[in-house]
Amino acid sequence: MPTAAGEMRDEIRAVLFRESTIMSRLDEMASQISSDYAGKDLTVLAVLNGSLMFGADLLRRLEMPLRLDCLSVSSYHGASTTGVVKFNQLHLPDVHGRHVLILDDILDSGHTLHAIRDKLQNETSPLSIKICVLLRKDVPRQRELEADYVGFDIANEFVVGYGLDYMERFRNLPYIGVVSEEAIVKYAPKFA
Ligand code: IMP
Ligand code: MG
Repeated sequence: MPTAAGEMRDEIRAVLFRESTIMSRLDEMASQISSDYAGKDLTVLAVLNGSLMFGADLLRRLEMPLRLDCLSVSSYHGASTTGVVKFNQLHLPDVHGRHVLILDDILDSGHTLHAIRDKLQNETSPLSIKICVLLRKDVPRQRELEADYVGFDIANEFVVGYGLDYMERFRNLPYIGVVSEEAIVKYAPKFA
């Protein structure tokens, strides 16, 4: 009988970053972030669900006594952005007077991170806001936004795994890969 991991593996047509590659890159990112924020009051704001794995692995490599908050937003349906960012919480974390590092899985159109940064800037008064993403897609940004820390640059293709989903599937893959055409069709949203 195929294992769950085996079932998922059959639906991935290419592996982009193996687990060991991701871990080595996280070591480098963490040492950069630790040195940049040494002696500062840092709050990490992890954007769920996509940054769950990335955040867990990156944060355990950071050396300062940071605070962690999570934010839940939704902006994607299937494999294309809607441009509308919905905040799923009533209240933003209180980051007044603190340095904030926003963690997200991927910078694509830029809508999501732009909306989060704007809302934080307007509704709380952080000392600084920086952005850290695991992946940055090679597409024209629809919003003015630069990431301060980037794990890997990728081409314009839809990727899954290590927190990233297609229709809420594949987040638990330990590596990052590209979904097969068959899986895209299989899990595509069904409209009545
Ligand atoms: P943006 O608002 O277009 O920058 O999209 C950001 C969000 O869309 C990310 O936090 C992801 O949740 C999702 N997203 C964008 N590209 C991909 C992808 O290739 N795979 C999975 N999710 C993606
Ligand atoms: Mg998503």
